[in-house]
Amino acid sequence: MMFTYQMGTQIEFGPGLVSRLPGLVEGIGFGKRIMIVTDPGIQETGLISPIKQTLQAAGYQTLVYQEVAPNPRDVDCEAGAKVYVEQGMTGVIGIGGGSAMDTAKAITLLSQTGGRVSDYVDGARPYECVAPLALVPTTAGTGSEVTRSAVITESSTHRKMTLKHAMLRPLLAVLDPALTLTVPPAVTSATGVDALVHAIEGYTCRSSSPITQAFGAAAMRVIIPALPRVMQNPTDLAARSDMLQGSLLAGLCFGASDVASVHCLAEALGGLYDTPHGLANAVFLPHVLRFNVVGHEALHADLSQIMGFASREDTPAEASTKLVEGIVQWVRHLGIPRLRDLPKVSPADFDELVELAFANGSTPSNVRTVSRGDYRELLLSAYEEQG
Ligand SMILES: [Fe+2]
Repeated sequence: MMFTYQMGTQIEFGPGLVSRLPGLVEGIGFGKRIMIVTDPGIQETGLISPIKQTLQAAGYQTLVYQEVAPNPRDVDCEAGAKVYVEQGMTGVIGIGGGSAMDTAKAITLLSQTGGRVSDYVDGARPYECVAPLALVPTTAGTGSEVTRSAVITESSTHRKMTLKHAMLRPLLAVLDPALTLTVPPAVTSATGVDALVHAIEGYTCRSSSPITQAFGAAAMRVIIPALPRVMQNPTDLAARSDMLQGSLLAGLCFGASDVASVHCLAEALGGLYDTPHGLANAVFLPHVLRFNVVGHEALHADLSQIMGFASREDTPAEASTKLVEGIVQWVRHLGIPRLRDLPKVSPADFDELVELAFANGSTPSNVRTVSRGDYRELLLSAYEEQG
């Protein structure tokens, strides 16, 4: 076995930490002109103003860029990079969910070496340098604060493009669970399931390693009990803190391995319909797990024990069955809608969804080889799911 694990991000975790942001960014050599990349929803929550004031009181000049779509678009990243250059900014702080953080990552790249997002994804331009970056997640889900990738939608084609390079990891990740206390239930559940999927896919995919499996297992142990607790009591800071830790651990898992077919289908859906990423993952998770178990029972029996669905006495077949049943119930209790209940979803688009999923760079990473026909079956089984 051969593997590599790279991680250059300074990780700071704790409630209230965001008030220490000026000192933390000073420690990593930000200049004095900071571009805050966030989304309009976060702006509305009032989260940004105090952060801006804290930075300004410490002598920083700030500019807020909030052209961030739920599924981040290349044109917004490119426009943001232009603003960064024109305004002479010296560093980026991305504050928000995965959309804001991924947009921030793309801006750090495009602002330094120009071009379009697709130039880097298609290999027309090399990754050479990025602007200084700090990330502050406000949801427990994406893990983007510690990963080397950013998923950006090509507006003209709906193609989901993945920027991926070690230099896209931020210099600093500030995880403050208090920032997640006001996340609405539907976003909490969807992003929480996304974090679990990161752990599952990062653990089982073909590029996993003992290190990513260790992080993945730790993430699953935390997330499975914590997410229902948060859903029951959204202001439970200890449970919110567990979820943020879980999403961080999941990020450290899949960020060094990959995701797989749940994400390929979810990104296809997000690209075509703008379905929120976490929600799209949640509707496919049980179906892809049921598919992946075949031929990989021992691996999934391990997952089943890690998540507490099976015991050591169960055979691999029994444990795998309990895994699928356990996940179906777990997702159902979170109140996740079915695929057919999501806006705009129509079987008439399944051909296109199959092609988008199959073309996804993570399709070859799925532990069980998956064909176009398999993706069609998975879409159908998710669509025909009974309530
Ligand atoms: Fe994800």
